[in-house]
Amino acid sequence: MKKVNKVVLAYSGGLDTSVILKWLKENYQCEVVTFTADLGQEEDFEAVKTKAKQQGTSEIFIEDLKEEFVKDYVFPMFRANALYEGYYLLGTAIARPLIAKKQIEIAQQVKADAVAHGATGKGNDQIRFELGYYYHQSDIEIISPWRIWDMNSRAALVKYADQHNIEISKDKRGEQPFSIDANVLHSSAEGKVLEDPFVEAPEYVYTRSVSPIDAPNEPEEIVIDFKSGDACAINNESLSPYNLLEKLNIIGGKHGVGRIDLVENRFIGMKSRGVYETPGGTILYHAHRAIESITLDKEVTHTKDDIAPRYAKLIYNGLWFSPERDMLQAMIDQTQSNVSGRVRIKIYKGNVMVTGRESPFSLYNNGLATFEDDDNIYSQQDAEGFIKLNALRLRKN
Ligand code: ARG
Repeated sequence: MKKVNKVVLAYSGGLDTSVILKWLKENYQCEVVTFTADLGQEEDFEAVKTKAKQQGTSEIFIEDLKEEFVKDYVFPMFRANALYEGYYLLGTAIARPLIAKKQIEIAQQVKADAVAHGATGKGNDQIRFELGYYYHQSDIEIISPWRIWDMNSRAALVKYADQHNIEISKDKRGEQPFSIDANVLHSSAEGKVLEDPFVEAPEYVYTRSVSPIDAPNEPEEIVIDFKSGDACAINNESLSPYNLLEKLNIIGGKHGVGRIDLVENRFIGMKSRGVYETPGGTILYHAHRAIESITLDKEVTHTKDDIAPRYAKLIYNGLWFSPERDMLQAMIDQTQSNVSGRVRIKIYKGNVMVTGRESPFSLYNNGLATFEDDDNIYSQQDAEGFIKLNALRLRKN
C-alpha cells in the first residue's frame, strides 16, 4: 500500500463508510477527514457528526450544498431535457460531480494527499467520483476500498465493525433489503429484493411518493413560471431553485408522480434494475418541455432533441466535467434566453398533464394556425407547389 498521510473520505455515516473510516486508519496509519454532503437527503447530520467524532476523525466537514446542487447541476441538466435510455432522470449521476469537486477542495484545504469513497467496484458511481477527482486534481491519490479489501458481504462488514467497536444501530445489523441513494432530486433503490427484474418492487421501497392508486381523487392544478429556461415560481410564489424543487417533490409525491421501475445499462456494461422516485423532477421535465414548445424554433427544438440523449449519456457516464459537456451545455444554454413564461399543469394519480402555456416570447401564431380567416398572411395555394416539389422523387413518372 502506498504511503498516505491524510485522506478525505466521502462519508455518509452508514455501515459501509464507517467501516471504511476505520479500515483506512488501520491500513494506512493515516489521518482521516470526513466529508458529508447535504444535497437535501433525509439525514440526521448531527448524528453523522457524532459518529464521525466517535470514530476518531481528525476533522469533520458537513457541507450544505443544496442550493448549489439544484442551481448549478440539476437546472442546467433540465435545460437539456436529459433522460438516460428514455426514462432515467439521472438523480444520482448528477450529484456525484459536485461531491467530487467539493471533496477535492477540502483535500486541498486540509493538505490531504488522498481521497476515498464507498462506491463498489461494480457500479457507475466509482467512475463518476474518480473522473471528477482527476479533473480537479490530476495527481490525487484515490483509495477505493471496495476494490481492495476482501470483505464482500454485509456480514463481513458487521463482523469487522464488531471487532473494531464501531457502533451500528440495530436496524442496520441485518441485511439491508436494498441499496439506497437519495438527494433532493430523487431516491434510488437497487439490489437485493429488487434483483429479479420480473418481480414487482414491494411498496416499502418507495419513500417519497404514495402509490398512484392511493393518490387523491381530486387533481391539483399548479402554474410554474420559467425564466430563461429555469423554473422560478410556483403559483406566483418566487422560490429559490432548491425550495422550488422541494415544493414540487411534495406536490408530486402526494399524487404518486415520478415512480419509475427500469432495467438500465451501466457504463461498465452490466444491466441493472433500479427503482426511482423523482416526483418534482418529473413535473419539472414536462413543464420545461411545455414552455419550450411555444418559445423555441422548430429546428432548434429538433436539434436539442437530437443531442439530449447524448448529453444524458455523458452525465450518466460521469463526464459532467469534460470539454464535450461544456460544449453541449453552451449550445443548450444559448437556446434558453427566451424560454420564459408559464405553464399550467394538472397533477392527478401519477400523471403530469400540461393544460396550458403562455409566454411573452411565444412563437405560437394564432393568425397562422387558425382554421378561421387568416387575413391573407398565408396562401393556401402555395401549399400545392410545396407538396409537388416534395413529391418529385416519390412520383414514378
Ligand atoms: N443506477 C443509478 C445510477 O447509476 C443509481 C446508482 C446508485 N443507487 C443506489 N441505490 N446505490 O445513477
